[in-house]
Amino acid sequence: MNPVEAWARQFLAVREVDSVSRTYRGDGPPSWRRPWPEVEAELSPARPGHWWPMVRLVDLLDAAGDARLLLDLGSGPGWPAVPLARKLRDVVAVDASELAVSLLEAARSRHDGLGLRIVRGGAARLPFPDATFDAVVMVDLLDVVPDPLAVAGEVRRVLRPGGRFCSHVQNFRYVLGERADLWQWGVTTPGEALACEVHHASLDPPHTLDLRFPLDPRHPSSRALAPLPMRDTDPHTLLAHLERLRPAMCGVVEVYRTTEYVVETAAEPFAQVGLTDLEVRSLDGEECREHAQALTAAGSLPAGPAAFEAAARELLEAMSRADDARGSCLSVRGGKPVG
Ligand SMILES: C[S@@+](CC[C@H](N)C(=O)[O-])C[C@H]1O[C@@H](n2cnc3c(N)ncnc32)[C@H](O)[C@@H]1O
Repeated sequence: MNPVEAWARQFLAVREVDSVSRTYRGDGPPSWRRPWPEVEAELSPARPGHWWPMVRLVDLLDAAGDARLLLDLGSGPGWPAVPLARKLRDVVAVDASELAVSLLEAARSRHDGLGLRIVRGGAARLPFPDATFDAVVMVDLLDVVPDPLAVAGEVRRVLRPGGRFCSHVQNFRYVLGERADLWQWGVTTPGEALACEVHHASLDPPHTLDLRFPLDPRHPSSRALAPLPMRDTDPHTLLAHLERLRPAMCGVVEVYRTTEYVVETAAEPFAQVGLTDLEVRSLDGEECREHAQALTAAGSLPAGPAAFEAAARELLEAMSRADDARGSCLSVRGGKPVG
């Protein structure tokens, strides 16, 4: 256990927070509640920001092959379930959050004739019989669940023999740069709560710890609250600062933990449950944008949705050949063996 968490557990009441309440908490980003352009709109090559979702979509579609029935786990407000359902006949979206499910239902109602079934449920215990799906995809789910192995096990169980899966997760090495070990934290919310995020890359597997300390703004000690540099604050400085604030801390500290993957670890949960044929690629959002800008400047953007998809596929292939493990997204794909 790292020293900051140990300190919190020694002096304060601690509650574990799960990814669902964390993602949709009242003070979370309002963007989660607004319709997302990449969910709602036909993606356009003329918008540099659309190349990234298109490349990711193509990656998921390619991994899914000729799937007739596809499962998207942890769909949130509809990514990638809704765009996939525009391309495939039958998609099932699962999310554990009531709010996510209602946002998904609203997104579906804005699209006529979408073959999208929505189920509220937990990915570690899916309400489907064995061997139900031809393909399973998930975007930014595995890194936020407390039990990635259980989720991978369910993926294996619900895939039909020979079925394919694809999982996108954030590349932790990209988040941290090349640092092997980094503490990053901020005390940025004067008032009710003090948020503090601690990355610890040298743990195995690396993880992020996010602690929220409730703070009484009327207590004189709360005046010790001051923004600290977000990077390179060593644990001793951090602990000294927290110690000064401790008298103003009231209520329960929330602890939220995410597993962080790098190219060497991204396939591990799937390998452990016996999925085979595993391949990890790193996809780079920045490269997508630069590529789009270069095409725009040259006046040679692909015309029409089919040409856009083909161009995004070419870019994806070029990225995969580049053998650069530092893109922002790790894509893990593989299959379920026959029998
Ligand atoms: C980081 S968001 C990703 C959402 C979406 N796939 C995207 O890429 O934007 C994680 C989503 O997974 C859902 N989730 C978290 N834990 C889950 C679980 N155990 N089972 C099913 N869904 C879960 C959350 O409610 C949230 O919608």
